[in-house]
Amino acid sequence: MEFQEVVRRRRMVRNYDPSRPIPPAVVDRLLANALRAPSAGFSQGWAFLVLSTPEDRERFWAATGSSPDEPDPWFQDMQNAPLLIVPLSHKQAYLDRYAQPDKGWTDRSEKHWPVPYWDIDTGFAALLMHLSAVDEGLGSCFFGIPVETVADFKTAFGVPDEFHPIGTLTVGYRAPDKRSPSLKRGHRPVDEVVHHGRWAGLG
Ligand SMILES: Cc1cc2nc3c(=O)[nH]c(=O)nc-3n(C[C@H](O)[C@H](O)[C@H](O)COP(=O)(O)O)c2cc1C
Repeated sequence: MEFQEVVRRRRMVRNYDPSRPIPPAVVDRLLANALRAPSAGFSQGWAFLVLSTPEDRERFWAATGSSPDEPDPWFQDMQNAPLLIVPLSHKQAYLDRYAQPDKGWTDRSEKHWPVPYWDIDTGFAALLMHLSAVDEGLGSCFFGIPVETVADFKTAFGVPDEFHPIGTLTVGYRAPDKRSPSLKRGHRPVDEVVHHGRWAGLG
């Protein structure tokens, strides 16, 4: 698919055909593309938990707070996804990388970091998977793991303490879904968000 077409078609898809598994080669491609994401100092402080068996997916939904007979239609439709990918950020990998001689932050202090690059880079990787899914004729949705369930999620999948899930991607062949009510907000106009040269002053 042409790149501009991928961007045009991209949207969060919240329902999937549960009878159509994703070919393993396609899953591999999504993950290979994730590893092409940029990362500060080429730290690559990320990991990806791939859940494709019914047991693993059920364990995910149960650990993050929804039961199989969840009345909320959002959960019901999202649980149709044949694939879940949880991108996890690894802050310590960045602190260690930037303590190396070419960077020199040997105190490993977080004060040097203007924003948490470990989460940003892992988010870039998630976006690459999201776009790759569109390119493969699939849909996907990035959503947050409720903060009060993160500990249970980590226990359920044996995630080491120092890895933090930044969210989750559902992936699958698209089925009719409800658009988010947030979309009523509309895309903000270019003039409102883009500042050429300098921020327009008040006078
Ligand atoms: C960081 C982040 C967190 C999000 N969390 C959720 C979520 O918890 N549930 C959900 O349905 N969508 C979630 N979304 C999707 C947004 O609602 C969606 O991107 C936005 O409404 C614009 O719609 P579009 O991506 O389909 O264009 C999230 C998106 C991002 C980037």
